[in-house]
Amino acid sequence: MSMDEFHAAVSLDELEAEGRKLVSVDGTPLAVFHHEGEVRAVNNRCPHMGFPLVEGTVDDGILTCHWHHARFELSCGDTFDPWADDVRTYPVDVRDDTVYVNPNPPRELPPAEHWAERLETGLEENLRLVVAKSTIGLLDADVDYREPMATALEFGTRYRESGWGPGLTILGCMANLVDDLEPEDRKRALYTGVRHVADDCAGEAPNFDQPSFSTRDVAFDRLKSWFRDCIEVRDAAGAKRCLRTAVAAGRSESELAELVVAAATDHPYLSSGHVLDFANKAFESLEHVDRSHADDTLASLVDPLVTATRSDEQSSWRQPIDLVALLEDVYGGGISATGGLESLAAAGADRTWSPPVDVQETLLGDDPEAIVDVLADAVRGGATTETLAAEVAHAAATRVARFGTANEFSDWNTVHHTFTYANAVHGFARRTDAIECYRGVFEAAMSVYLDRFLNTPPAPIPEPGDNDSGRDPDAIRADLLETFDADGRVDEAGRLVAEFFDCGGDPAALKRTLGHGLVREDAGFHTLQNLEAALRRFERETAARHPDRERRRRVPLIATARYMAAHFPTRREAEQTFAIATRLNRGEAIHES
Ligand code: FES
Repeated sequence: MSMDEFHAAVSLDELEAEGRKLVSVDGTPLAVFHHEGEVRAVNNRCPHMGFPLVEGTVDDGILTCHWHHARFELSCGDTFDPWADDVRTYPVDVRDDTVYVNPNPPRELPPAEHWAERLETGLEENLRLVVAKSTIGLLDADVDYREPMATALEFGTRYRESGWGPGLTILGCMANLVDDLEPEDRKRALYTGVRHVADDCAGEAPNFDQPSFSTRDVAFDRLKSWFRDCIEVRDAAGAKRCLRTAVAAGRSESELAELVVAAATDHPYLSSGHVLDFANKAFESLEHVDRSHADDTLASLVDPLVTATRSDEQSSWRQPIDLVALLEDVYGGGISATGGLESLAAAGADRTWSPPVDVQETLLGDDPEAIVDVLADAVRGGATTETLAAEVAHAAATRVARFGTANEFSDWNTVHHTFTYANAVHGFARRTDAIECYRGVFEAAMSVYLDRFLNTPPAPIPEPGDNDSGRDPDAIRADLLETFDADGRVDEAGRLVAEFFDCGGDPAALKRTLGHGLVREDAGFHTLQNLEAALRRFERETAARHPDRERRRRVPLIATARYMAAHFPTRREAEQTFAIATRLNRGEAIHES
């Protein structure tokens, strides 16, 4: 190290007399200590929340910050308290009774490696501040978001015995949102996903691997039947071995999706729709990372599958109308059958289905037999799983958009569950043409039916042109963000989305605004899911070129704006941590002493 890099900082006599000095060397604030005959220099800003360390206590080789009492080994800066992070130290040299400090020593690791290492620590110890600093540091070092996402995905699937859960689902949602966000909000999104994975794994036992079978020579249909049988009897170990064997044998994404969607629809609407949504998010997450993650990622779905509640065992699906019996008739036997669906699909093989004009009215109506009939007619008329799933997903989005605020607050979750389930069914239908996707469509439609009273009376959905105020769309976006600052502005939020479109606003700008509104809050699992699913539905409706496209594509965004307004504002604690982490990474002062 060249001595030219050292700058005169303080006289040794003065330091010895006072024991400590705050100096600024080349713009870096340093706390210089004289302790046990040695001179030490550390960054004056406590890495926890920026308290001036020069005001700390030095004793027995330990520097203790006075704010939250984090302790640091004085010579190297390593902390005893991982939540606070390590403090940076600086080389010193004493010449001619003057202390010289090098304020810019080379880092032990390049920033990308340093922050990747810190991210691992943040995940392992569930340290929110460390996760914030490392996700910000990684993106500032131009690391692609997929790298930390892959780290968190691997961690979350390995260190959670109960398998895929809300944390990994949020991570997948956030990865899907990245391209729709402003650069600073991409950091917030990644921080949100990673911190929820860390939180979900905290205190959990690790997930011990069940290896694949040593043979790869198992016919696909046999593997599928074994897998379904294992899930049926809630045998997690056997199911994991089947699924890992399918991955190890190089089965295609479409085949892997078929295995999962078959088992996930052998009983209707598992765990209020969560299981299929988790599975959809697992497949979507794999689109952001390489296939080496498929094995652990898909195996982590087994625990939610085997522990799921089955809606055919729920009274609401049996009484006063036995919805399960209605489905069994169409399926051609038991609730796990597909023979009837195969016959309907065969009849429609050479036909092209066009949705009847009143299909949405039927799907949103109060006659489950009519709903089942319209869907069965559609399959017989050539409707693909993808087309039909999109139709039901639109009905599910409409339920959220029309949710009446006089309902119990918790019922927002009821319509939300149906919406994300229907969105997941559509995701699977795009991935595989497995006949079982039709079961998902029928079951999503039954859930839309069950939610009908939550639209009583229905909140009005603004029609295109109803709110053409001529206002600047940017001003409307600002107003929309404001609705999230106060309780209860649910209908106003939905109306502003409609006004934004009526005034010619760019959908990409609206997505950025909704995304910002989301990631600055302590948004819960469902709200994070809701926006991501709504943006996905908007994209699908835009691409579908339905004759009623302009009205249809607004519905999910009106729905999610209303959902967000119902759940915001929050305390924004996570945002406070994010702001502190940002300033600490930039070396800015935080604590005004
Ligand atoms: S322990 Fe130093 S600021 Fe919190």
